[in-house]
Amino acid sequence: MEKAEKKLHRLKSNQLLRDLCSETSFSLSHFVQPIFINEGINDNEEIIGLKNNFVMSLDNSFKQIDDDLNNGVKNFLLFISPKKKSVSSFNLDFHQRAISSIKDRFMNDINLWTDVCLCSLTDHGHCCLFNEDQSIDIDRTLKEISKIALSYAQAGSDIIAPSDMMDGRTLSIRKILDKEEFSMKPIVSYSTKFSSNFYGPFREAASSAPSFGDRKQYQLDYRSESEAIRASLRCAEEGADMLMVKPGMTSIDLIMKIREKTNLMVGSYQVSGEYAGMCLSEEKGLLDLNEALKETWHVMRRAGAQYIISYGARLAKEIGF
Ligand code: PBG
Repeated sequence: MEKAEKKLHRLKSNQLLRDLCSETSFSLSHFVQPIFINEGINDNEEIIGLKNNFVMSLDNSFKQIDDDLNNGVKNFLLFISPKKKSVSSFNLDFHQRAISSIKDRFMNDINLWTDVCLCSLTDHGHCCLFNEDQSIDIDRTLKEISKIALSYAQAGSDIIAPSDMMDGRTLSIRKILDKEEFSMKPIVSYSTKFSSNFYGPFREAASSAPSFGDRKQYQLDYRSESEAIRASLRCAEEGADMLMVKPGMTSIDLIMKIREKTNLMVGSYQVSGEYAGMCLSEEKGLLDLNEALKETWHVMRRAGAQYIISYGARLAKEIGF
């Protein structure tokens, strides 16, 4: 016992040796930076808790993406909120304009991921449409979600990322994309997405908080591992090209298991509440944000995350690794 402890201490005795023995690494190409665009605002609006992140007008997003590119980030996950919410038959003109103008401007210097969901479009803020008896109207929901995915593909989105957690959405999107000659467009499904307490700042930013009830009907229960793995398997079977688990730190136990079962790329989404927790702790002098981010990113890599979505992605170059 004493021998083993000595060995640990010997290997920790200098920085270069510690670096040599480190087993995790990541580079800027592993990061995805979320971007919020809202049709109804003209400037940048702060998001409570999310330091260095804003809800932006489309015009301001150009400058932000430009800055982020200079910081080595090349993957962006776009969340678009329209001025007007509706009950159904959603107007996607602004969405299409946002996507196509960003792609026209940055071409293939960036990889533009678009989050596909109904929650920022519906007047009730849920990720689905309901029947009169408040049960989920899955057929109508899938139809709308697939239409949105297609319109994003047509506008030039590089990666379609459905986050709604409706049964069958990956297959439904794959079918419509293939039919309309977007068979080369990858789908990254939010495949293991828990009903979580850590989405608070996001819902403010995307103006997508549900006006009644919660999302437990369609998001996963954090108490069930098998359900969580099954959800990713199902997305894989339906044709997802890459998978995602979220929240980040509370789901790291599942990453390797899902990778082994699907042989697909599995990424980790460090969600808004996780990032905000670190930002607010830093504000109170309780931690160093950069160091804390670095720790969480290494832990995600240690757990097998092949890519990382983080509100701190734009800080990664400065932080170093
Ligand atoms: C929309 C969506 C959510 C997130 C990503 N897409 C919120 C939710 O499901 O309520 C959360 C991301 C975050 O908190 O950073 N369906």
